[in-house]
Amino acid sequence: MNNIVIAPSILSSDFANLESEIKRLEAAGADWVHVDVMDAHFVPNLTIGAPVVKALRRVCNIPLDVHLMIDNPEKYINDYVLAGADIITFHYEAVKEKSLELIKQIKNSGKKAGISIKPNTQVNEIKDLILPSDLILVMTVEPGFGGQKFMNDCALKIKEIKNSASKNLIIEVDGGINDKTAKICKEFGANALVAGNYIFNSENIKSAIELLRR
Ligand code: DX5
Ligand code: ZN
Repeated sequence: MNNIVIAPSILSSDFANLESEIKRLEAAGADWVHVDVMDAHFVPNLTIGAPVVKALRRVCNIPLDVHLMIDNPEKYINDYVLAGADIITFHYEAVKEKSLELIKQIKNSGKKAGISIKPNTQVNEIKDLILPSDLILVMTVEPGFGGQKFMNDCALKIKEIKNSASKNLIIEVDGGINDKTAKICKEFGANALVAGNYIFNSENIKSAIELLRR
């Protein structure tokens, strides 16, 4: 993959107008829509679930990149498959040794399977999961909230992952992405970037997306 995927996070969008927010992202050239699912257990915040993903699917013509920040993701994967998610990413910390099984379950449903690591999880803990995964999501903030500061140390994990990855692996970064931090991530080998506040707080979301991609 040569191009950088830009996946705006709708966590920072206007929840009262999700359809028009999706249309605005599509028109601005977003590649995917990133959907942050939080359960108030795995993270201290509660957002949206499968019924909202299903509704988004009706109005969204680009891939839905679903980031599950939830406990027991194995119980809910099927809901997101049926809701029409295209990429389903769960957290390694929520599953640990059952991660490989879950990756297989997602892939067998015909979806792309992603695994995410929090700031305190090291790459060597997931080293055997890199090849079986379609996507690795590196968190550069503690998951739970938008608008936090990018953690530079976490970005170094991108390089490490890149070293043991196949060339088809998508290395996605999430948390505190702006035009400056995007540059660091791309230099380290990331090929997909999530951004919430940077995109939705900009005057012109099209140019914000272009700046991240460049
Ligand atoms: C944080 C979420 C992120 C968040 C990113 O737990 O996973 O996707 O929306 O927001 P920004 O880009 O504002 O850090
Ligand atoms: Zn996210």
